[in-house]
This record gives sequence, structure tokens and C-alpha cells, in this order.
Amino acid sequence: MTTNNGTGGVLWAGRWGFVLAATGSAVGLGNIWKFPYMTGEYGGGAFVLVYLLCIAAIGVPLMMAEIAFGRRGRGSPVEAVKRVVAESGGGSAWSILGWMSMICGFMILSFYVVVAGWSLSYLWKAVSGGLNADSVEGMAAIFEDNNASPLNLGFWSTLVTLVTMLIVGKGVQEGIERSVRWMMPGMVVMLAILIGFGIFSGGFGQAVDFLFAFEFGQLSSEGLLAAMGHAFFTLSLAAGAIMAYGAYLPAGKSIARTTFTVAICDTLIALMAGLAIFPIIFANGMDPAGGPGLIFMSLPLAFAQMPMGTLLEIVFFVMLTMAALTSAISMIEATIAWLVESHGITRNRAAWSTGIVLWLVSTLAMLSFNLGADWTLGGRTFFDWLDYLTSRFLMPLGGLGLALLAGFALKDRLLRDELGLSWGGHALWLFMIRYVCPLAIVVIFIDALGIMTLEMATQWPWGLAALTLFVVIGEWLSPRLRRQPAH
Ligand code: TRP
Repeated sequence: MTTNNGTGGVLWAGRWGFVLAATGSAVGLGNIWKFPYMTGEYGGGAFVLVYLLCIAAIGVPLMMAEIAFGRRGRGSPVEAVKRVVAESGGGSAWSILGWMSMICGFMILSFYVVVAGWSLSYLWKAVSGGLNADSVEGMAAIFEDNNASPLNLGFWSTLVTLVTMLIVGKGVQEGIERSVRWMMPGMVVMLAILIGFGIFSGGFGQAVDFLFAFEFGQLSSEGLLAAMGHAFFTLSLAAGAIMAYGAYLPAGKSIARTTFTVAICDTLIALMAGLAIFPIIFANGMDPAGGPGLIFMSLPLAFAQMPMGTLLEIVFFVMLTMAALTSAISMIEATIAWLVESHGITRNRAAWSTGIVLWLVSTLAMLSFNLGADWTLGGRTFFDWLDYLTSRFLMPLGGLGLALLAGFALKDRLLRDELGLSWGGHALWLFMIRYVCPLAIVVIFIDALGIMTLEMATQWPWGLAALTLFVVIGEWLSPRLRRQPAH
């Protein structure tokens, strides 16, 4: 490569490199573990519809901005944001966004490896016949048991950390791209097998009704909020992952088209996971609102009652573990890229040193389920705090910052070049990134702080009034914020 840049000229090797890696990042525990149980909890179809709207209205424009930043800056998120802002002649305060997203990715991974460890330990239990309880209570006891011993739980989360670091340490092409190239198709095949069984289980019609019957009366304002938050999480936004991957995207590729592909694949896989899980749940007469334990308690119980259940269970947990791994590697890529570019060390070295710090933090998170269950602050364990701080603060704030930076503070020409959209396409993107994203994020954020409930915003005249006000203020401010002379 001839470009001299922070990524050392590394690019995805294959035509599908970026799409596979970014889809691998997006498709994770969020799709297979969280999305089905949230849909169950918040009442089905209406939740799904709002979630889809959020993906389209907030997720897609923001993901496009992140990729554009990464590719324009050609460096770790820290460096990329700094460079893009510098190129536009903006103030250095914006570079805090790069740092924030890198730290956010690291924090998410610190608790994500614990959940991925559950998945891996369940795979082992499925293989060794350890999921043999015949009641929900029995399955719950197995889950508790699995958590109770720090050595046991620590073993599995350590294993996840190790594998993640091994893959990332090998490099962008040799490690990340190579692993996603077989894990992603593998996952889809396994999901298809599970859906195939779902169709014949007798619960398929009920599952389809449950997922796609849009009954708005059932959606609470909390469900609305959860749908928005989940749209962020499931697309891996505002945590450095997509921006770091964007830095390796070859120049000629259309950012809009790749973003659509990733968002559509992510959504399809979440829906497929629903179509794989709910038929089994319904066919065995179980409660779809099983909460976070849905796939660790209700689902194994359903499998235990099915012919070939053990085999399907193994397929399920292999798939879940792979989904978790392809996400885990994306969360740490920002940190690795930053260490390599700022300290001039090898990727391998960067991976091992990051791995040690990650192991320490994730061990603390793991202890929240046993020894450290009482080490709480404000009623939250360390694990809960990592989850809470990232999903309620760092991600929304980072997303808000990025949207404001991309929409208002940067010279329009810069991202216009990078995105290369038609006139109308760019105008639409700009409208979304300037007004729709910030407004939606502010609403999530305010609600998280408990200052206001969403009820106000769900009344559409208020929402419309707020949006109008926002547009007027924004259009008045934006030329004043960009005070550099044109070129
Ligand atoms: N999107 C992944 C999931 O659905 C999780 C994930 C990967 C993530 N990378 C991220 C979440 C970065 C936030 C930020 O499971």
C-alpha cells in the first residue's frame, strides 16, 4: 500500500472482508440472547417494529458516519477522530470522542466475556450431559451452580479472553478476517438448522404471530426506550468497533451500501434467532417472557424434552459462542490499533498486554456472580455498573457527540466526499444525523437520568414540536459553528 497512515496501510483483503467483520461485530449476544428475551418481555411485534424503525432512523445514519470517520482518518478511533477534526480545522476538544469510544469498547468487553463464558460453559454442559434438569427450577439451579464457583466461571471467561486475544493478535487479515470468514457462514447455517426444526416443532405459527403481530397497545414507554437502546447495542455503535473496522475499508467501497448490508444482516439474524428460539419455547409450553434466563433456562429445558434435543442444543451453543467471539474481537480492535499506532509495538504485544488488563477487569466483573456479589455501589454490582455505564451513558453520549460532530461541526465537504452519496441521499443523511439522531438520543438519555419519562415524547405533537425547534436552532447555529473560511 502506498498510503502512509496510522493503520500502516492495512486493509481488508477480501471483497467481503469489511461486511463480514462488521456483521460479525453486530451479530452477537445482543441478537441471540438479548433480542429474543427483550421481545418476550416487552410484548412482541410492537417492540420489534419500533426496534426496526430505530435501526433505520438512528442506527444506519450513525453507522455511516462512524465508517466515514474511520476511513477518512485511517487510524484507531482516537487517531481517526483527531485527524478528521484537524483536517476540518475544528477544535481539539472533539478528540475526546475517540477516547470515549475506545474506553467504552473495552468496558463492554469486560462484562461481555463473562456472558460469552456462560455460553461456552453451556456448550460444555450440553456435550457432557450436564443440562439434564426436568423443571425450570432445576435449570435455574444449574445456572446458579455454574455461577457460584469463581474458579469455574473464571475458567470460562478466561478462555474467552484468551481466544479473543489470540485472534486479534494475529492481525486484521490473518486473525479477524480469517476467523469471520468461516464463523459467519457457519453461524447462519446453524441458525437455519434450528429454524428448520422449529418449523416442525408445532410452535412455529405461534412464534411468527408473536414476533410479527404489531399490537401497539402492548408497548410501554419503557419498551420504546429499550428498543432504542438495543438498536445502538446491536449495531455496535459508539464504542469504537465500527470506526476501527472502517479504517481498513478500501477507498472505492460505498459506505452506504455496506452499512445497509450490515444492518440488514444484523436484523435478519436477530429475527432468525427469534424464529429459532420461540417455536421451541411455545411448542414446549414455556413462557416467552422468561427474561435474561430465557436461553440459559427455558431453552435447555425445551431441548431436554425434544427428540435430538442434545444435538440441537450443541448446535445452538456453538453458534452462540461464535456470535459472541466475532463481537468480542471487534470491541478490542480499537484499543489494539491505538496501542500499535501510538506506542509502535507489534499487534501481538498489544494483544497480550491488553489481554492482561482485560483479564483483571473481567475477573472483577465475573466475581459479581459469586464472591463479589455483595460488593455493590448504589445497589449495583461491578458487572451491573459496567453494563449500566456503557449502555446508559457512554454509548448514547458518544453517539450524540458523533452525530453533532458529523452533522454540525465538521466541514460538510469532508464527509460528503467520504460518503459519496447523491445530492438527495446526502441531504437525507444530513437531516437524520443532525436532527433525528440527536433528538432520539437526548430522549433516551434524559429518560435514563430519570428527569422525564418518555410519555411526553411518545405524544407525537410534542415530538414534532421538539423536532421543529431542534431544526430551527440547528440551522441557525450550524453556519456559526463552522467559522473556518470555505477552503
Ligand atoms: N453488537 C454486539 C451484539 O449485538 C455487541 C457489540 C459488539 C457491541 N461490539 C460492540 C456493543 C461495540 C457495543 C459496542 O451482541
